[in-house]
Amino acid sequence: MNLKGRDLLSIADLSREELLFLVEETGRLKDLQRRGEFFRPLKNRVVGLLFEKPSTRTRCGFQTAVYQLGGEAVYMRPEELQASRGEPVKDTARVLGSYLDCIVIRTYSQGYLEEFARYSDAPVVNALSDQEHPTQVISDLYTMLEAKGRLEGLNLTWIGDGNNVCNSLLLACGLAGVNLKVSCPEGYDPDRRFVEKALNFAKESGAEIELVRDPREAVADADFVYTDTWISIGQEKEAEAKIKAFKGYQVNDELLALAKDDTLVMHCLPAYRGKEITDSVLEGERSIAWEQSKNKLHGAKAVLASIL
Ligand code: CP
Ligand code: NVA
Repeated sequence: MNLKGRDLLSIADLSREELLFLVEETGRLKDLQRRGEFFRPLKNRVVGLLFEKPSTRTRCGFQTAVYQLGGEAVYMRPEELQASRGEPVKDTARVLGSYLDCIVIRTYSQGYLEEFARYSDAPVVNALSDQEHPTQVISDLYTMLEAKGRLEGLNLTWIGDGNNVCNSLLLACGLAGVNLKVSCPEGYDPDRRFVEKALNFAKESGAEIELVRDPREAVADADFVYTDTWISIGQEKEAEAKIKAFKGYQVNDELLALAKDDTLVMHCLPAYRGKEITDSVLEGERSIAWEQSKNKLHGAKAVLASIL
């Protein structure tokens, strides 16, 4: 599989085979670490981490991944770059892209990522944008594979906001042949473009992709129920309206009583207990959110080792 030098801005940048390769590579690198074996493909490589938004898991996961793979990481805050004084994106990208071997970026705008990637000689990885969170769902697919031993034909149900994580899951499920039901309140469905792309991928993989308004109906045959915050970073002003609109879309014991006995619960974290999920579900036996967050480190390694 040749992913060397490639940008990862969207799950749609990957073929089905490339996505499945990254998922399997996540597991292989997790096993290596478990056995205490070292893998240092990033020796003498320098990876930039440019985060415009807060991050605990993705930033620390990527930084740790770089070190464990034998490379060096340079963390950059946008307010410390000349970009904060008006230097254009294309100039920043040309310069940083000539020093660094890869740049991992979390940003408010997918357009910024695309422009950066156009001018950077070094490959760019999307560490979350307004539209997508591709590295999240690569490790999430691995978490599902790890839990159930297969991906094809599994039933995943998304409950809540049709946001960036949901968009990437739509594309990833469409490619990987995972059936996905997306259940959002009216007005909060995922962007139609992602649904259409996912349906297009699903023609090849056989995945069933559906929007189901009623969350109680959506969880009925789920192997996994996945939720995320109702208020993504930058949407703080919409909080009040969203909390009202999302009533009935909380992942709680009552909703899970309508699912199968072996349904597992996923959350990309950070979680807001009492909003999109209850404490008892997040801390309960069905929750695999903690294993899911651990797998982000291995997913980051898989992405970096493959691109570099
Ligand atoms: N899941 C995730 O991306 O978490 P962070 O925002 O902490 O990176
Ligand atoms: N949808 C959330 C995910 C955080 C990891 C956000 O964009 O804030």
